[in-house]
Amino acid sequence: MAALFDRRGRSFRDLRISVTDRCNMRCDYCMPADVFDSNHDFLPRSDLLTFEEINEVVTSLIPHGLKKIRITGGEPLLRRDLDVLIRMLAKHPLDLALTTNGLLFPSRAVTLADAGLNRVTFSLDSLDPEIFEKITGKSGDSIHRIIDGIEMAVTLGLSPVRINSVIRRGVNEEDIERLIERFRHLPVALRFIEFMDVGNHNRWDLASVVPSEEIRRLVKDRWDIQQIPSLHTGQVAKHWSLDSDTGFEVGFISSVTEPFCGDCNRARLSADGHIYTCLFATSGHDLRPVLRNPDCLETITERFQKIWSDREDRYSELRAQPRSSTTIHLPRVEMSYIGG
Ligand code: GTP
Ligand code: 5AD
Ligand code: SF4
Ligand code: SF4
Repeated sequence: MAALFDRRGRSFRDLRISVTDRCNMRCDYCMPADVFDSNHDFLPRSDLLTFEEINEVVTSLIPHGLKKIRITGGEPLLRRDLDVLIRMLAKHPLDLALTTNGLLFPSRAVTLADAGLNRVTFSLDSLDPEIFEKITGKSGDSIHRIIDGIEMAVTLGLSPVRINSVIRRGVNEEDIERLIERFRHLPVALRFIEFMDVGNHNRWDLASVVPSEEIRRLVKDRWDIQQIPSLHTGQVAKHWSLDSDTGFEVGFISSVTEPFCGDCNRARLSADGHIYTCLFATSGHDLRPVLRNPDCLETITERFQKIWSDREDRYSELRAQPRSSTTIHLPRVEMSYIGG
């Protein structure tokens, strides 16, 4: 099949699959507890794609150049029997990764590795129990469980093991050095993410963003670091090796100060079967009428071809432009729904 390009000449490579919009944390920048409370309308079970349907979407996108799948949420480990899905997806010749907050990971690690998961990325924003609790709403004791999970992932060879930390001004800047000190003796990549204006509820403001350049300078002042060339186009993070013999790396994801829309090759599949062509999209394309209607003559492969060919998104590049010329004022999907 001919290579698939969008209107800006970007190919398709990467599918992020959200398997649930629920989470067992309430990070204040993603699912603030006062908004995502017991009155919040989470997706009903009947709306969720089944594992067979997810697998059908994946199978249908391989001819369009799909190379990597990342299972996300919410918190993907809240989806029952996730290992069954991993086992199905592991049959494809694709990079199969998982993003998790790590709380449930230690009890699932072996099953997931046996099912064929290739690698895992953890989210961990603070090693200080009080700050951690303030950010996530979970007891600071959970930090130990998450670190156990990270170490298990390394032992099980779910590599490269990555850790994502969102650093915000006045919240957890002290964790930059603390996290490096804690993990630099492990073969993991620690990636600092700039706080983004994704979703509608995270009270984002530019003053809270700590630019990657600032963190890089801070790290450079203390450690000897060398930039590592990107492995492929569209890679979100820029990685640097740190003077250590463990293979430890630091990475920077700079969506605010150095947008990377120019070669963005990612599509997102929500738990209820909508394709989103941008993290900041205001609406998606429902695949369920194609998946669930036996009389539908169109295939997912054909439908996706139209969706991707029509794609123009470059939200992070437009963010700096006048509000009227962008979708900046329209309600957007939530990160916990679309999967980060
Ligand atoms: P690797 O293959 O491990 O490098 O994965 P990844 O960088 O694709 O995935 P990961 O889940 O680790 O992404 C890290 C974070 O980068 C996400 O949680 C988002 O915060 C951000 N990110 C990922 N993709 C995009 C994107 O397309 N646009 C923007 N603005 N941010 C993104
Ligand atoms: N800005 C930057 N990163 C975010 N994440 C969630 N919300 C935001 C935001 N507003 C990160 C999480 C996790 C990944 C899936 O996305 O911390 O590491
Ligand atoms: Fe926090 Fe991730 Fe859950 Fe959002 S989905 S509340 S970032 S753990
Ligand atoms: Fe891709 Fe949209 Fe992120 Fe730009 S803002 S990199 S187009 S997902």
